[in-house]
Amino acid sequence: MSSLFDLYKITGKIVVITGGAGLIGRKHCEAVLEGGGIPVLLDIFQDSLEAAKAEVAEKYPHSVVEIFKTDITNYDSLCRVRDELLSKYGHIDGLINNAANNPKMEGSAKNMGAIQFHNFPLEIWNEDIAVGLTGAFLCAQVFGTVMENQKSGVVINISSDYGIISPNQNIYRKEGVPENEQIIKPISYSVVKHGIIGMTKYLATYWGKKGVRVNTLCPASLANGQPDEFVKKISELIPMGRMSRPDEYPATVLYMLSEASSYMTGATVILDGGRTIW
Ligand SMILES: NC(=O)c1ccc[n+]([C@@H]2O[C@H](COP(=O)([O-])OP(=O)(O)OC[C@H]3O[C@@H](n4cnc5c(N)ncnc54)[C@H](O)[C@@H]3O)[C@@H](O)[C@H]2O)c1
Repeated sequence: MSSLFDLYKITGKIVVITGGAGLIGRKHCEAVLEGGGIPVLLDIFQDSLEAAKAEVAEKYPHSVVEIFKTDITNYDSLCRVRDELLSKYGHIDGLINNAANNPKMEGSAKNMGAIQFHNFPLEIWNEDIAVGLTGAFLCAQVFGTVMENQKSGVVINISSDYGIISPNQNIYRKEGVPENEQIIKPISYSVVKHGIIGMTKYLATYWGKKGVRVNTLCPASLANGQPDEFVKKISELIPMGRMSRPDEYPATVLYMLSEASSYMTGATVILDGGRTIW
């Protein structure tokens, strides 16, 4: 007799994960492996890809993980990945549009600086839109079309709590720093994260009767060694009173990739400790 948990199996399914070498991308990779699938990590850095592969190989010693150094803004590179996967496996079953220029408080991303809206550079705007929206569009076109032809597949678009609400810039402020030197979360991030939800809804209807489901996952507030003052300020905005852990996402990702969510399309799944309801 089959169990309810069998619905979560994605045995042998090929799942492309963009930005797969990053913080959350590695967790999506674990989700695919837990379900018995084969993750395909795309990222721009070969060394990070190899490190990600080595990291998961320790936890899943007999796993198969494909890695491709690929810029998702380059259509021809994506077609090469598609062709290689099809000649090796004959099918592509999932896509997680996860890559974005994610401006982290703890990092030194050029889009997370003392750049106020009035002087926000067009160059950074274009770069952020290119990765977060155009890259997701191209991946959906290249890999999603394979799924459309197969009449089966699943796309997960990664948004954020900032796809639902606007950033509260107060949490990034530092005491004693002049106004024009305060760092702020960039407008491009809000636009990308709201836009990706629109892309989900469009594609969910476009592919509605064609066997391809498309949903959005909004992660939020990942703890990653941020300064104590920042952790305190952001935690006060979250009803659960804490940031999230990377291991709080894979079970939901596996649910969204598998037949367990067979009637879900066009949905926005928000994992934010309640932040967006406050
Ligand atoms: N970390 C958080 O707190 C948080 C919260 C909400 C949403 N998110 C979202 O989750 C996703 C992953 O975030 P993360 O924290 O793992 O970020 P990350 O910066 O660790 O990972 C992003 C990855 O994308 C890759 N990338 C960038 N440009 C690329 C390109 N052109 N082609 C291919 N790969 C490219 C980067 O090299 C990096 O490995 C993002 O969409 C982000 O907006 C993150």
